[in-house]
Amino acid sequence: MPILIRGGVVVNHDHSRQADVLIDGETILAIGPKLSAPAGTEIIDADGCFVLPGGIDPHTHLEMPFMGTVSADDFESGTRAALSGGTTMVVDFCLPAPGQSLLAAYQEWRHKSEKAVADHSFHMAITWWDKQVFDEMDTVVKTYGINTFKHFLAYKGALMVNDDELFHSFSRCAGLGALPLVHAENGDIVFRLQQHYIDQGITGPEGHAYSRPPEVEGEATNRAIMIADMAGSQLYVVHTSCRDSHEAIARARAAGKRVYGEPLIQHLVLDDSEYQNKDWDYAARRVMSPPFRNKSHQDSLWAGLASGSLQVVATDHCAFTAEQKRMGLGDFRKIPNGTGGLEDRMPVLWTAGVKTGRLTKEEFVAVTSTNIARILNIYPRKGAIAVGSDADLTIWDPAATKTIQAKTQLSRVEYNVFEGYECTGLPIVTLSRGRIAWKDKQIQLQKGDGAFIQRDPFPAAAVANATWKELSKPRPVSRIEVTP
Ligand code: URP
Ligand code: ZN
Ligand code: ZN
Ligand code: ZN
Repeated sequence: MPILIRGGVVVNHDHSRQADVLIDGETILAIGPKLSAPAGTEIIDADGCFVLPGGIDPHTHLEMPFMGTVSADDFESGTRAALSGGTTMVVDFCLPAPGQSLLAAYQEWRHKSEKAVADHSFHMAITWWDKQVFDEMDTVVKTYGINTFKHFLAYKGALMVNDDELFHSFSRCAGLGALPLVHAENGDIVFRLQQHYIDQGITGPEGHAYSRPPEVEGEATNRAIMIADMAGSQLYVVHTSCRDSHEAIARARAAGKRVYGEPLIQHLVLDDSEYQNKDWDYAARRVMSPPFRNKSHQDSLWAGLASGSLQVVATDHCAFTAEQKRMGLGDFRKIPNGTGGLEDRMPVLWTAGVKTGRLTKEEFVAVTSTNIARILNIYPRKGAIAVGSDADLTIWDPAATKTIQAKTQLSRVEYNVFEGYECTGLPIVTLSRGRIAWKDKQIQLQKGDGAFIQRDPFPAAAVANATWKELSKPRPVSRIEVTP
């Protein structure tokens, strides 16, 4: 049955207007003032509310094997949490173990994601390099619809790749019209600093933050940008947490490079004083990489979002239970890295961003949805309230309030890093491809209702990069022959 959302203000990344939205099946059929409803239409009243494109979280780790355990939220609990917070699509990471076929890892992750309640897509990680990986990347892009490849510059001895592997993989991405992603921290230096602080007797969670200072992130970001430039590819820097990394990205963009940066909601609102908490459990639950930073870094990230030098806000949702975090009692290096945030990203960003005037509501839509859809090449199917787009949207009440409490959340972990945060601005009804997904504070969709969304490669950016690379490449000097 068709759905008519009546009386709201439709907010897109570039403009807002008072308009009704008529939905038929999975897509948006019409947008305009005072639309008439065909017989049998379900009417949803959005008076006093904004109608926003559904959020897209470009960075989650659901049921991820990591550091000797598996992250606690799977594709079912994670996407339920997402929908409750206005996020209608997540992009997770398919992680081949070093030596494992990319195609086998894809099958494994697709099996896990059959449980998803919301739409989802994958990035493919490159955790090792040889001809097999080179060949399989073609199938990943052309057959599986995955156009992004993730590279870890940290996690030495596990997921980390070296500069030579990065150059090979970035070059391959350029050839395939794919976008490489990096976790930018210098893994060799982190490894040494970890050992240094352990030797000094610092074994608690604060040692995690001390061993991953902004400088190691800044260096790795600059290095990844240089390697992408040499390889002729674009670059997306995940969890940009500090001024050093943001400035590297801003410089690259000012020099005409296609480089994107992704702050996390955690880094925008939580700071490094969390690791000084006297309660070991409290501090360990906040251990993630990169760690939370101080206010000066937070100000830089906010400025980047407002000015456009940083484009998107993610969660890196990688939740571990209190018991899992205790694997690192006595040695911070063994605390599983990761925090949650899927259900909190949009309300917390609205409160800390739009309510304070740091972001307009249109900029909010850009960084939570539209820019992500554009960078990942699923726009305007996703990321827009437009005729023909998927009817993924959320009716946002800017006056609704809640205090974040772990005891009422949908995530499986028993704590929340935003505990006690007072949000103003909440999703009251959320639609996923035309189906009511969240209403009356209840999830209305079932396990398996989420679809895997294929994403095409980036012909325009790939052609532009290749054309410029060819025009500006070094050329031999032709000389008059000198006879000896
Ligand atoms: O601490 C984090 N961020 N855990 C998830 C894995 C990653 O590095 O993104
Ligand atoms: Zn299966
Ligand atoms: Zn990472
Ligand atoms: Zn991550």
